[in-house]
Amino acid sequence: LAAVAVASVAGMRSRAALGAITPEPDFGSYKQQVLIRWGDPLWSTAPAVELTALKPQDAAQRFGYNNDFITFLPLPYGSTSSDHGLLVANHEYPVPHLMFKGVTRDSVPQALTDEQVATTLESVGLSVVEIKRGDAGWAIVEDSKFNRRVTGTTPIKFSGPAAGHLKMQTSADLSGHTVLGTHDNCNGGVTPWGTVLSGEEGSQDFLGGDISSAPDYDLLMRYHYDDSTPTGKYGWPGYDKRFDIATEPNEPNRFEWVVELDPYDPAAVPVKRTALGRFAHEGAHCTLAPDGRVVVYMGDDWEFEYCYRFVTDRAYNPDNRIANKDLLDEGVLSVACFSEDGTVLWKSLVYGKGPLTAANGFADQGDVLIQTRRAADLLGATPMDSPEGYMPDPSTGKVYITLSGNEDRAEATVNAANPRAMNKSGHLLELTPPDSGAGPDHAATMFEWQVRLLCDEDTMKASGFHPATKTNGYFYAPDNINFDPEGAMWICSDGPNVRGEDGLWKMETRGENAWLSQLFFLSPQGAECCGPAFTPDGKTMFVAIQHPGQDSASIKDAITRWPDFVDGEPPRPSVIAVMWE
Ligand code: FEO
Ligand code: CA
Ligand code: CA
Repeated sequence: LAAVAVASVAGMRSRAALGAITPEPDFGSYKQQVLIRWGDPLWSTAPAVELTALKPQDAAQRFGYNNDFITFLPLPYGSTSSDHGLLVANHEYPVPHLMFKGVTRDSVPQALTDEQVATTLESVGLSVVEIKRGDAGWAIVEDSKFNRRVTGTTPIKFSGPAAGHLKMQTSADLSGHTVLGTHDNCNGGVTPWGTVLSGEEGSQDFLGGDISSAPDYDLLMRYHYDDSTPTGKYGWPGYDKRFDIATEPNEPNRFEWVVELDPYDPAAVPVKRTALGRFAHEGAHCTLAPDGRVVVYMGDDWEFEYCYRFVTDRAYNPDNRIANKDLLDEGVLSVACFSEDGTVLWKSLVYGKGPLTAANGFADQGDVLIQTRRAADLLGATPMDSPEGYMPDPSTGKVYITLSGNEDRAEATVNAANPRAMNKSGHLLELTPPDSGAGPDHAATMFEWQVRLLCDEDTMKASGFHPATKTNGYFYAPDNINFDPEGAMWICSDGPNVRGEDGLWKMETRGENAWLSQLFFLSPQGAECCGPAFTPDGKTMFVAIQHPGQDSASIKDAITRWPDFVDGEPPRPSVIAVMWE
């Protein structure tokens, strides 16, 4: 595949209304292209197949569906190359009614054949793709030895305290050490040693069955399973009995972890690092404490769920990559308790400590991690308004958390860090770790915090933004955060708002223009913008466009056919490259 050029911004802005957006002069001149789309083959040996008739083996050789997290890792490893590297993408969930012709939104999953269900299993997970920039822009390197798909059926190891646990054992895996597949891969992160962390955000849409008599019914409810959808959203339980909780009651415990993948080693078995806890992992952003220990920030993206932090026991070794291989298996997981006085206390989830004992239903540390949410409940963690982006600013060490909203919050459950009832527009928190003298101490027990932005889509105003912010500079339901190499913050939104649009905004966090948010672009109709990711020189920004046209009834009636705009063909989740210079 050669990169598919998209001629202009007009291609990106697929709705007439978007033509009204004046490009911000501050962004300078840039070009853009579609780098890779759902269904593009990673190997030249992949047989030519109609996109809407992919069989499981075809999907496994192609870029997956619904790219969320993306990152660029330079090649060779350790270099700062900005024209050659690996693109790693998460593929969160399938949208069967836009993947297969003749399937409608209302007929899923009943209308899906077993083969189509199997195709959805091969369309989630991760992709690793070697990419190069030449005179014509970026292109993928077909047949690269690095190209790889990890799917809903790839063998993945468990490591850390819950590996091999009684509650992790199933009839197909009596040892509880290996699971087939990963799904609902949402956001993620990159470790200092260049591996990728992929957040499994949930399984309640994927697994199913009659759970009313499941031995862990209460735990399933705490993990937001719903006993009214026995088929699962995508028909997986009917296709493979391991996804039927009545048959395999421990299978749910084998998802909602953080997966570590080494994209530089195509033979490396991916690992679910159980020490990082089990919940609806959004992302997993790493930084270092002054003593070199690795700190991972992780949000549990659900209304009233919590913000977590993991600190490794050992320090990162910058001189020996192999020495960091299992660093994430030993350390302490903590949960955030926000106080009204502007401090946040990190309470550790350690078996035997405080309420985390046998008397409260925990047999060992593995059990604490399998039941992370129950353990955090007992510690009095602060229920948040859907924690999504959660990332340290590399320039200042301040940690930012986007809360995308919580319309179910009642007046009685408002707290200082989530100060509004019926919060439909979301907000941004800023956490400040103490200065150790050698830099911000991300491993400290107590931080300070403040509300930085309160978004408000009803008034089209919001507090905390720079007064010169234009109308289209305000955003709502903030989701992904990243920082470009020059230190500016980029935020993607995710959620309906009065304008019905999601997009990508840029702002400084310091100086006289701090929080002067500027719209960079709006997503195609029905799509969410994810990322962005940057080359080390900042001259290319990659943006993932997830679930374009998702609300369409079917391919026939698609509300957008972005990015190819071919009559009768489905829209395609794709990664865009935006190039300056
Ligand atoms: Fe996958 Fe929380 O967004
Ligand atoms: Ca998200
Ligand atoms: Ca989201």
